[in-house]
Amino acid sequence: LVKKAIEELNHTKDMNELMLLKSKFLGKKSEFNQFMQEIKNLPNEEKPKVGQMVNLAKNEISQKINEVKRQIEEEQILNQLKKETIDISLPGKKFPLGKKHVITQTIEEIEDIFIGLGYEIKEGPEQEQDLYNFEMLNLPKDHPARDMQDSLYISEDTLLRTHTSPVQVRTLLEYVGKKPVKIIAPGRVYRKDDDDQTHSHQFHQVEALVVDKKTSLSDLKGTLLIAAQKLFGSERQIRLRPSYFPFTEPSVEVDVSCYVCSGKGCSMCKETGWIEILGAGMVNNNVLKAAGYDPDLYQGFAIGFGVERIAMLKLGIDDIRNLYTNDLRFNSQF
Ligand code: PHE
Repeated sequence: LVKKAIEELNHTKDMNELMLLKSKFLGKKSEFNQFMQEIKNLPNEEKPKVGQMVNLAKNEISQKINEVKRQIEEEQILNQLKKETIDISLPGKKFPLGKKHVITQTIEEIEDIFIGLGYEIKEGPEQEQDLYNFEMLNLPKDHPARDMQDSLYISEDTLLRTHTSPVQVRTLLEYVGKKPVKIIAPGRVYRKDDDDQTHSHQFHQVEALVVDKKTSLSDLKGTLLIAAQKLFGSERQIRLRPSYFPFTEPSVEVDVSCYVCSGKGCSMCKETGWIEILGAGMVNNNVLKAAGYDPDLYQGFAIGFGVERIAMLKLGIDDIRNLYTNDLRFNSQF
């Protein structure tokens, strides 16, 4: 009987079958149980012997069952593991990586240059008071130079700022009598312009302002040269041309030397070998006075970077509208 049981158990391959065999050999209706029942009918002296034999046989079968059970369980685990293995030879899924927009990149580039020169970053509101956007910048109401910047008014005395220069006024008022001013102010600005290849009703500027004792035009020129060379290449030169802004006197337009050639990146360089990059100047005495500074003691300079213009010149982008359409085929090039 034991032999037969072991033989059958050896061929068992799954748990259900094993359980059936267990009850067949050791269960209530099994032959073993019948033996056990019959022991009581045996003569007394034979009882212990037969009992022992039956027990031994039963133990042997139990042991075998446990052994087979362990084997089956082990096999199940192995199968499970096999099913769950990861095929590391499969090519992975690629998730496209985003990146910063050209405008953000350019703003951060300008910020880095000026942070390196010890400037601090200041921000101001996009909805601005006429007072800060114009009046305190030496642009009183009815001043003809207001026409230089077509404005989007919200009410009689608030508008969407037309430039980042009102942050000059705000900072001057904040720092007067406390500490010298050495700031840059990046941000969005708005003009009532029709959008075309070179105009956008909303664009970006970075303003730079220094006001301290003994600040001179040569400080401005040195700062402009460093900025131009960091932005466009260390071999570049700059030249200043006289210009006009109500809030600076003298005012300059700044050109950077460029390569006269045809093709991407240099196509915007004029025949002269110079291209205009920005406006700047020495802070007008009227601006200093309006903010409470004595122009006999304090002087300053201001620079106005047009972020789009710088990006377009650097990267050879010929239509400003490309910067706003968010076409990934365009954006991902930079
Ligand atoms: N605010 C001027 C503009 O938007 C630029 C500028 C800034 C010029 C600072 C001189 C000094 O046109």
